[in-house]
Amino acid sequence: MTNQTLISVNNLSKVYGNKFTALKNINLEIQKGEIIALLGPNGAGKTTLINTICGIVLPTEGTITVDGFDVVKEYRKTKSIIGLVPQDGALEAFETVFNNVSYSRGLYGKKKNSQYIEKILKDLSLWDRKDSKLRELSGGMKRRALIAKALSHEPKILFLDEPTAGVDINLRQDMWRIVNDLRKTGVTIILTTHYLEEAEAIADRVSIINNGEIILTDNKSDLISRMGQKMLEIELHEKIHSIPDTLERFQLNIGDDQKTICYVYDTESESTGITDLLQSIKDAGLKLKDIQSSKTSLENIFLKLVEESK
Ligand SMILES: Nc1ncnc2c1ncn2[C@@H]1O[C@H](COP(=O)(O)OP(=O)(O)O)[C@@H](O)[C@H]1O
Ligand SMILES: [Mg+2]
Repeated sequence: MTNQTLISVNNLSKVYGNKFTALKNINLEIQKGEIIALLGPNGAGKTTLINTICGIVLPTEGTITVDGFDVVKEYRKTKSIIGLVPQDGALEAFETVFNNVSYSRGLYGKKKNSQYIEKILKDLSLWDRKDSKLRELSGGMKRRALIAKALSHEPKILFLDEPTAGVDINLRQDMWRIVNDLRKTGVTIILTTHYLEEAEAIADRVSIINNGEIILTDNKSDLISRMGQKMLEIELHEKIHSIPDTLERFQLNIGDDQKTICYVYDTESESTGITDLLQSIKDAGLKLKDIQSSKTSLENIFLKLVEESK
């Protein structure tokens, strides 16, 4: 896949009311066709960042281009390329799904296209409900309708602000599938989330934001493997009260049950030290019962990075 920059954020800062700095010198390039997650705790600046890219919030400093157009100077151009599903999006409760979506398309000055509306409603499994009034829909169906509305004018880019905040786990997974399916149609997707598992489940790249700053942007898989550590849990036959001196160099921890010892190793280093460890355990006269290893999650990485950036 050839990389093609679709969104370019350069030295962006946002100060609200000349007092509160919500974004500090943000630089970010988003490629055509990717799914990028802006991950960070509440108040980190995620919504401010996407609203600035969407042209709803004005930058205090810096520039943003979308498909080569400046989001402030060429707002009409960039607006037509962008679809936004806001955190608290509203729909006409007394209108039908079809009319809501169709009307929204009209607002962008696009010609009527029932076939296209039909396609997006089908893609979002909303076609059966096209004649239902919005107020008759469940929370999950309403969220789908909001996405359909954001897609009504055939945008190249879709922003989803906290698409699954406050929804149950079934609906969340449904959403993840929808986002993945949308990507296949060629739409570039930027989502914000404070759920680490969400970024881990659907994004190609992750940008970690904290206190208005991007701490790190990386491919999700690189992020996990580059910083990846694994933990080996070794269950012993009998309790131990201290680690034998001969095992000191492995920096082991004893579990609360006093029967498990934990060894943390780097998956990227040349030697994990596992063979050596197991031999030394044997030499120390300890008997193994069971062994298991677990991977570091994005969650651990995230906490580590936020800690380091303080
Ligand atoms: N219109 C506003 N005026 C003043 N401060 C704001 C405004 N909108 C957001 N903020 C502040 O900016 C910070 C970032 O907010 P936001 O971008 O909504 O974060 P997130 O979406 O990551 O939760 C928060 O501290 C918030 O209180
Ligand atoms: Mg937000």
